[in-house]
Amino acid sequence: MKKRFIRILILSVFALIIAGGIAAYQIYKEENQTPNFVTAKNFGGPFTLVNQENKKVTEKDFENQWRLIYFGFTYCPAICPTELQKMTGVLNDLDDQADDITPIFISVDPERDTTDVIKNYISLFHPRLVGLTGSEEQVNQAKKSYKIFAAKVKDDTMTEYTVDHSSFIYFMNPDNDLVRIFRIEDSAEEMIKVIKSALSSYTAT
Ligand code: NI
Repeated sequence: MKKRFIRILILSVFALIIAGGIAAYQIYKEENQTPNFVTAKNFGGPFTLVNQENKKVTEKDFENQWRLIYFGFTYCPAICPTELQKMTGVLNDLDDQADDITPIFISVDPERDTTDVIKNYISLFHPRLVGLTGSEEQVNQAKKSYKIFAAKVKDDTMTEYTVDHSSFIYFMNPDNDLVRIFRIEDSAEEMIKVIKSALSSYTAT
């Protein structure tokens, strides 16, 4: 009886040690995993828009470039400026490493976001920020290509309409893969960590 009890006790202790070992290994693995996974291969699609200099641009102009892409609108009271500010801060903190990354702002409000409005607006953020707008059809095509939701909202209490829209910062690599979608809750530190890791582990294909 006593022998059996000891045997069970020893087996239990072994089981605990093994379970603890597995748990520790999983935590170790998670902490050391590079955060550079590709969310979607060959993301995005065709678009034709105009930049802040009123020059026609298509998706081909950004081929083979690292990109941070944000869709929004210049009249957005809070979220767009906050996210673009965060993107700018990230690029500034990355310093030389940011030279390879093209930051892009695409309007979801072509009616009010004319080239001049866009040009003024992007000057508030990163000096290399590209601002794109176009006709309603052109913007709709870009939204479709990048799976962006945006819809005009207006009720009786508003003098001007607003636009409800997805708030994603897309991080894309030169192969057109979507490396990560940064969201409102992702801190600048988290973005920097992911971007550095993606840049350093990237090998051209
Ligand atoms: Ni917004």
